[in-house]
Amino acid sequence: MVVHYRISGDTATAIAASIEAGVRDQALAPGALLPPVRTLAGELNVSPATVAAAYQRLRQRGIVTTAGRNGTSIREKPPVAGLRSARPLSIPSHLRDLASGYPDVKLLPVKTNYSDGGVLPELKAAAGKRLPFDAPITVVNGAADAIDRVLMAHLRPGDKVAVEDPGWAACFDILALQGLVPVPVPVDDEGPTLDGILSALDKGVSALIVTARAQNPMGAAISAQRAAVIRPLIKDLLVIEDDHAAELAGVPLHPIADAGAQWAFVRSASKPYGPDLRCCVLTGDPETVSRVEGRMRLTAGWVSTILQRKLLHLWDTFDVSSASAAYAARRDMLLTALADRGITGHGRTGINVWIPVRDELSVVSALRDNGFAVLPGRSYRLVSPPAVRITVSTLDKREAERIADVIAEAEQNELRGVLGR
Ligand SMILES: Cc1ncc(COP(=O)(O)O)c(C=O)c1O
Repeated sequence: MVVHYRISGDTATAIAASIEAGVRDQALAPGALLPPVRTLAGELNVSPATVAAAYQRLRQRGIVTTAGRNGTSIREKPPVAGLRSARPLSIPSHLRDLASGYPDVKLLPVKTNYSDGGVLPELKAAAGKRLPFDAPITVVNGAADAIDRVLMAHLRPGDKVAVEDPGWAACFDILALQGLVPVPVPVDDEGPTLDGILSALDKGVSALIVTARAQNPMGAAISAQRAAVIRPLIKDLLVIEDDHAAELAGVPLHPIADAGAQWAFVRSASKPYGPDLRCCVLTGDPETVSRVEGRMRLTAGWVSTILQRKLLHLWDTFDVSSASAAYAARRDMLLTALADRGITGHGRTGINVWIPVRDELSVVSALRDNGFAVLPGRSYRLVSPPAVRITVSTLDKREAERIADVIAEAEQNELRGVLGR
């Protein structure tokens, strides 16, 4: 098949991106033969080594295949979703389709076949209205899945990623799974600190993962002022912003994800509507979204349309404001009880309160001795100081007062021990 698509670029990265964009926009169809290395190098006025490096990258991403003398062509199923159509080529109507490998839908209790899967257009439209971006949208199986897929779409083992410290333990686990190197960025109640971002940039990070609101474990929410100072600094990074609490957070969203060219903003349904939905809307730049969707099509396929319909229905019918108010009241109960005893906790939004302490284990064991199981902060920390995380989602006032008493006493005992030494 002759290629009429005009490939551009003067570096291996730019040439590879141009070919990938051709696949994404369906100007380069599966099976399309790319020009020989020397021919393209001549046309683009670059060295053959540059074009060879671009083809090599595309091969590593599974987008092209090279068959010796037959040259390099687009793979039959490149892991890049075409944004115009997510469906496989249809069989002409005069042919009886015996090619599909699909079950007979008439014999299925669930009447959705492989050809009917994918992101529901009505969910995409509704998600578009709920999000402050004009960008492609897909759906994945939760925020952790989204973060995993976006990192995989862009990074290689050994790449450095700026992460909040304290931060979400699952995020640290994902970096470890992919051989990525976490670079801690301190967090205060308004989000990642400016100094922390600058220091991570100095360390050569390629990406940043941040939580928009209800940061776990601190409850931080990125403020308008913080977003304004951070955005110009992160233009060259892949930015992944996790808005897992969405409307439940009860504070306005000041996004930073779309500061640069490579980005993803993920909004899970878990916290407002139920973790079992395993549904998360992912929006971002066209390359990122098409890589995520393209790879997903070759692996998980899609998020069940049963779940997508359920989420759509919940968006229309379920009001999260009373849950949001209940969580705010429970956070305040504990924060006030702590403040009454001279202890400062953090919990601007979300379902956790983060309490810096002198010694994590003594506080955890004192609470355990009084009938409360809480996690030591160490699962959520890289280099930030000791703390405990208390999930307040089901807490009542009597418990809040008791917990504050126990922590105050444990801290006093610890201080006495330090002074007595
Ligand atoms: C920061 C953060 N993001 C996302 C989630 C939800 O993840 P998922 O959508 O995978 O259930 C959580 C759950 O605790 C979280 O703490």
